[in-house]
Amino acid sequence: MENKTILVSGGAGYIGSHTVVELFKAGYQAIIVDDFRASSERMITGVQDLIQTDVKVYRIDICDKDKLEEIFASNKISGIIHFAALKAVGESVEEPLMYYRNNLHGLINMVELADKYGVNNFVFSSSCTVYGEPKGTRKVHEGTPIGHTPSPYGATKQMGERILQDCVNSSKLNLAVLSLRYFNPVGAHPSGLIGELPNGKPNNLMPFVTQTAAGIREKLTVFGNDYNTADGTCIRDFIHVVDLAQAHVSGLEWLSTVEGSNMEFVNLGTGKGTSVLEIINNFEQLTGVKLNWEFGSRREGDLEEIFAETKKAEELLGWKSKLTFKDAIVDAWNWEQKLMNE
Ligand SMILES: NC(=O)c1ccc[n+]([C@@H]2O[C@H](COP(=O)([O-])OP(=O)(O)OC[C@H]3O[C@@H](n4cnc5c(N)ncnc54)[C@H](O)[C@@H]3O)[C@@H](O)[C@H]2O)c1
Repeated sequence: MENKTILVSGGAGYIGSHTVVELFKAGYQAIIVDDFRASSERMITGVQDLIQTDVKVYRIDICDKDKLEEIFASNKISGIIHFAALKAVGESVEEPLMYYRNNLHGLINMVELADKYGVNNFVFSSSCTVYGEPKGTRKVHEGTPIGHTPSPYGATKQMGERILQDCVNSSKLNLAVLSLRYFNPVGAHPSGLIGELPNGKPNNLMPFVTQTAAGIREKLTVFGNDYNTADGTCIRDFIHVVDLAQAHVSGLEWLSTVEGSNMEFVNLGTGKGTSVLEIINNFEQLTGVKLNWEFGSRREGDLEEIFAETKKAEELLGWKSKLTFKDAIVDAWNWEQKLMNE
C-alpha cells in the first residue's frame, strides 16, 4: 500500500490541528511534532476525539536536530507539512533573534533531514505578509513582487521561501515544495473540539472579538476609522481554518504528481475582502451578544486593504474556499463558549 505518512510540525497548533483532522479524513496518517510552547494537550485530545483514533505525538523542539532525526529514522515519512514557527508580529520586533533562530533554524533542520531521509514533498506555511505593502493593488496574486516587510516575523517567512527556493534550485537536492501563503485564518472546527488558543493577549481580530464577548477582555479597539474603505475600517481576507486545512490535503495531492524538484507559491484566501466593522456587526447579529468596542487611532504598519487572488489555488490545487466569514464567526464563538464552560 502507498505510504501516506505525513510529519506535521506544529501539528498541535491552531492550523496544524485542523489539518491533522483533514489528513486523517482523506486517508493519510499524521505524526505530530510539537513542543507545545504555544499549544496544549487539549488540542491532541480534541483531534483524537474527532478522528476516533490515536495520533502519534512527539513532544520535541524541532531546533534539536538529534531528537528530530530520531523521528525520521524511526518512521517512514512520505511528506512534511511544516507549521512550527513563532507567529506574533509585535513580539518578533522585540525578540528578533528568538524569531530568526526558531523559524529559520527549525526550517533548516527539517529540510536537511528531509533530504537525508529522501522525503521529497514539503509544504511550507507562509503568509501574505511576504507581499509587504503592495503598491497600488489590493488584490494580490502570486506574481505580486515580494515587498519590504517591517517585522522580523515577516522576514522569516520571506527567508523561509528563499531558503526553500535555493534548495529546489540546487542540483544536489531533490525537493518538491509548496509554499502556501495564508491570508487571515479564522474560525474553529464546527464540532467545538479544536480551535484557536492564543497565548496571552490575542494578536488577531477574531479571538479578540470572542474573548471580549466572553468577558476575558474588557474592550475591543478598532484601529482607525478613516481609511479609504466603505466604512473606514481595514479590509482583510478572512479564511475559515477548516477550508485552510483542506487546502493542505489538496497541496499534498498536487505534490505527489510533481516529478523532480519544483516549487510553487499559492495564496490561500477567499478572494473577498471583509472589513473589521463587518466582522463586529455580524458577530453581534449572529450571536446576539453585544460587544464592548471603540474606535482607536490607526496602528502603525496596518495595510488599508488586502485580499487574495485565488485563481492559482483553484487551477493548481483544485481547491477553493467553501465557508464564509459568517461560518467562522459562529464556529469561533462556539469554541470560545466551550472554553468558558470548562
Ligand atoms: N494564524 C495566522 O494568522 C497565520 C497567518 C499566516 C501564516 N501563519 C503560519 O502558519 C503556521 C501555523 O500557525 P498557527 O496559527 O497554527 O500557530 P500556532 O502557534 O497555533 O501553531 C504553531 C505550533 O508550532 C509549535 N512550535 C513552534 N516552535 C516550535 C519548535 N521550535 N519546535 C516544536 N514546535 C514548535 C507551537 O507549539 C504551536 O503548537 C505558522 O508557521 C505561522 O507563521 C499563521
